Formats: sequence, structure tokens, C-alpha cells
Amino acid sequence: MRALLSLSLSLSLSLSLSLLFAVLHLPVSNDVRGASRRRRHESAVLTCRRRIPVSDHLFMNLYLHYAGIHTALSKRMLNLKESGTLKMIEKVRELQRKGIKVIQLDVGEPDFDTPAPIIDAAEEAMRSGFTHYTPSAGIPELREAVAEKLRRENRLEVGKEDVIVTPGSKQALFYAVMALVGEGDEVVIPTPAWVSYMEMVALAGGRVREVPAKEGFRPDIEAVKEAVTPRTRLIMLNSPNNPTGCVYSEGELRALAEVSRGAYIISDEIYEKILYEGSHFSIGSIPGVGDRTITVNGFSKTYAMTGWRLGYAAGPREVISAMNKIQQHSASSPASFTQKAALAAFSTDPSPMVAEFRARRDYVCGELCRLGFDLGPEKPHGAFYAFPKIGTGMGGAEFCDLLLAEAGVSATAGEAFGDYPSHVRISYANSMDRLEEAIARIGSFLERHGK
Ligand SMILES: Cc1ncc(COP(=O)(O)O)c(C=O)c1O
Repeated sequence: MRALLSLSLSLSLSLSLSLLFAVLHLPVSNDVRGASRRRRHESAVLTCRRRIPVSDHLFMNLYLHYAGIHTALSKRMLNLKESGTLKMIEKVRELQRKGIKVIQLDVGEPDFDTPAPIIDAAEEAMRSGFTHYTPSAGIPELREAVAEKLRRENRLEVGKEDVIVTPGSKQALFYAVMALVGEGDEVVIPTPAWVSYMEMVALAGGRVREVPAKEGFRPDIEAVKEAVTPRTRLIMLNSPNNPTGCVYSEGELRALAEVSRGAYIISDEIYEKILYEGSHFSIGSIPGVGDRTITVNGFSKTYAMTGWRLGYAAGPREVISAMNKIQQHSASSPASFTQKAALAAFSTDPSPMVAEFRARRDYVCGELCRLGFDLGPEKPHGAFYAFPKIGTGMGGAEFCDLLLAEAGVSATAGEAFGDYPSHVRISYANSMDRLEEAIARIGSFLERHGK
């Protein structure tokens, strides 16, 4: 009886929705109204689709069919969100185009120039004609240099055949997820987590199980243990962490490996060298765990090379080879001369930049505490972000929108990184002068809002 009742309720809801859509959109057909209207319409359709229950998609599709509307986008796009960080960058650019001076605390890249030897090596490569396609997985000497670094510094047992070089580590992460995750597979992600992990899994058809961190953003090992089931295909880890700056200890990583029950692990170690306290440990160096770990790293953060788009991954040969197939059929390879430049990067020393970041971290975290933000028990130990709770009672999104509009300071709302509606990510990858100005502006903003 109850089932009958809920079926009839669902049917009537579906019919009324269909009617509503029909009334709203019937005049729009696949005729002469122009591409922009059509795009607006498609985006409305996508939004509606996300909000209505799955059973109603049938009616939505029927309506679309009879109204003669064919969305250009595939089904896999329905659940894909825009990048929260890149969206904020767009908003900032828009204000800058209008001549408004914005201080950016939303950026995820070092404000330093790429070291000169790296630029020289790229120039030399270009001038000597090294401007053609390269082997898909990267030039052999770079793959060997990466393998050697991973053996020496990270204690991974890898050779150059176990390494792929990619256009940015984001691409390496994307390939790894596409190679490992299939429709319906579960992926465990301790949060807060970098914005793109969840969307990569969604694109691959997988299901994310978020595991919120404990106090101080430490990984909740017990909760991860509970989240891992026989359906878990993959666990995605990131230490030092974006957005929290938390650095997982060797003990925590060993415990995570233990509770992972044989699932694959992606270990995103892109902030490895931007470390102020503690030491970096690679989970893939644990005997028996390396066989199912894909270690991802890159040149963007350590060598201030974000625009060069160069990253790499190392792991089980069958996974690396699958990732390479995806690269062969998409990017082909990373750019040729950037790979030569990367060889030079390995001989440059990032420690002066890291020392500068440390001074900025101390300043910014001290000031945020003074202004009433809750940073938890410890300062971030790595990367160049703080992820405090906002003390005003405002939600992160509201805070970021108002702060940008009223104070000309950009930051990223916590919900981009998981279920953190009261947090905000503050990047201190900016000059000390600008950071001081930003803190002054945030102080006045909070005063105006009664804090
Ligand atoms: C945690 C994390 N992983 C990966 C990336 C991607 O870096 P890239 O593609 O520039 O190597 C970023 C960039 O912000 C990041 O924060």
C-alpha cells in the first residue's frame, strides 16, 4: 500500500515537473533562437537534472525529446562541478579587468619566478631544435632522473619503466583515476581534500566516500577503516595537504596502509618539499604497499613552474602503462622543451623559497588568530595554505563573496574541499607587503561586520 502510495506520489510529481518544464521551455526549440540561448537552456537543464530525483529524469528526457531539445553534453557531465578554485580566479580576473585591485589569497601557486637555470635549459632546448613530439611517457633521461629521485629521496623501488611524465601532476592524477576506477567503484577520500579529486572520480563513474578529518585535520584512521569495504577500489591521500597544510606522520601513513585492505592508493606528494616541520614519508615505500601505490608529484610547486605543466607518477607497471595509453590518446606527451628544463630543475635548491613561505605562514597564522579565526591546535606544517574556521558565524561562501566585493581580497570557501561550510582557505603564496595589506583589509571588514 505504502509502495503504491509513494509510486503515485512520485508519478504525479514527475508529471507536474514535466508540465512545468514544458510551460517554461516549450517555446525554445532547436530552431533559430541562437546558440547563446541554447547554451543557457542546456545549463538550466543540467541544473534541474541535478536537483530532481533520478526517477524524474525519464520525464525530463521525454520532455526534452518532445520539445525537440537535444543537449550537446554527455551524461557524464551531469554531475561534474566547476573547480571552486578556478571559479574564484575567474571572478578575480573579472574585477581586475574593471581596474579593481584585488589581493589574491585564493591562489594555489608560488609567487616566485621559475629559477633561471630552468629557463636557460628550456631556451637551449628550443634553440637546438628540441621542439618535436617526444616519447609519450616522457624522454628517457627525465624518466630515469625521476626514478632516481624517487629511489633516493622517497625510498620507492622504481625504475624508469615505472615512471610516466605528464603535463602537470593533475593530469597524472586524472589518468590514474581513469585507469583504476570503473562505474560504481568506491573511492575513499579523507577530507578536506583538494577540489579535483571528487570530480575526477565522478568523471570515471566512481562513488566518493568522504572521510572527514579529526581535530587538527589529522586523518581519522578508524573512520577510514570503516569506510573501506570490498567495493573500495582506491584511496586518495595528499600530504602535505591542500587545503589544510597538515603533514601526515609516518605512523599515520603506516596505519592508513594497514586499513586500506589491499585497495589501490594514490599518494599525491606535490607539496613534498614545502615543509616546515616534521619530515616527508612516502606511503609507497612500505614493503608490499608500493605494489598498489601510485605516487604523484610534479614541478609546479617546488620549482615555481605552474605554467610549465609538468608532473609525474610512479607505480605498478601495469597501471603506469594504462595511464600511458590514456596519455597517448589525449595529450600525446608533455611539451618537449619543458622536459629538458625539468632535468635542470632537479639541481636547483627550493629552500630559500620555502624559508620565505615559512616566515609568511608564521605571520599570517598569527594574524588570523588575532582576528578571531580558529586555526585549531597547530599551525599548518606544510604547503602554503591555512584552513581556519571563520569566527563570524558567516558561511565560507558568503564570507568569500563579501570579502571580495567589500574588501577586494579573494579567498576560497571551505565547501570546495568537502563538507566544510564554515571554513575558508587562505593561501599565503603572496608577497609579505600584500599579505600585510590583506590582513589590514580583513581586519576592517570584520569590524564592519561586528567582529
Ligand atoms: C594537492 C594538489 N595536487 C595536484 C595539483 C596539480 O598541480 P599541477 O597540475 O600544477 O602539477 C595541485 C595544484 O594546485 C594540488 O594542490
